[in-house]
Amino acid sequence: MRPENMKSKIFLDGGDPGETREIIKLLGFLDGQTTNPTLISKNPEARERLERGDRFSEQEILAFYRDVVNEVSSLIPYGSISIEVYADASTKAEQMLTQGKEMFTWIPNAHIKLPSSHEGFKAAGQAIKNGLRVNMTLCFQQEQAAAVYAATAGARKGDVFVSPFIGRLDDRGENGMDLIANIIKMYQKGDGHVEVLTASVRTYNHILYALQLGSNIITAPFKVLKEWGEKGMSIPGSDYVYNTGNLKTIPYQELDLTKKWQEFNIIHDLTDKGMDRFSADWNSLIK
Ligand code: E4P
Repeated sequence: MRPENMKSKIFLDGGDPGETREIIKLLGFLDGQTTNPTLISKNPEARERLERGDRFSEQEILAFYRDVVNEVSSLIPYGSISIEVYADASTKAEQMLTQGKEMFTWIPNAHIKLPSSHEGFKAAGQAIKNGLRVNMTLCFQQEQAAAVYAATAGARKGDVFVSPFIGRLDDRGENGMDLIANIIKMYQKGDGHVEVLTASVRTYNHILYALQLGSNIITAPFKVLKEWGEKGMSIPGSDYVYNTGNLKTIPYQELDLTKKWQEFNIIHDLTDKGMDRFSADWNSLIK
């Protein structure tokens, strides 16, 4: 059962409904799930097809993605399921929006993942006007989170998530958890319409510190959630200290949330690299 004193929501980061079932059994609850093209490419059924050399047509892979999220949605009907649009360096906001509108009809509890890029922010504003819920992914710096806030101004609480990718920052020696702390602090000055979804979680301690910081949502892969479950779903006390090791501090920036999203520095090389990787993994599935 969900720990009584836990304010954060816990999501599974994965593309295999089998894992969703196992985690629900282990934890006794699950608040939602995040998917992305890489995770769909790792789905066991998709892997099996690829190993047979039987790649998907474009229609087939979309139908496959739709079936996966439908199954996950039936397992977590009251949760949120994030579905990611295809976006490479040349994908325009209009194309993201068209995909997002279609994907939003797949299940009743979808959040549409759009990249924290120029075209992604353009699409986000339109998506909110069209009544979609969004999850702004591939966020690597505080200014991108400020831009998420500005681009989705006026949205209802619960309709917008921002996904800072902590593990990929750690991977290159920066303390990803600082970004979570900085965004939470910055959003305290706002109206609360954007929820912080800690993503790219690699370790049990990432979960503990995100809980201590009060991240609205934490998404973690099967292995890490399983470890947290097996250790009794512990909630860190006020004496918990996150060990940053040799990771470089990411300093807090004073940013004005009333500015337009175009006025923030939204360029980050890891966002570009992330889009390249997601689109390459998706394309690897297609004939
Ligand atoms: C979730 O929404 C993200 O897509 C995911 O956490 C990325 O994790 P990774 O950096 O391990 O690929």
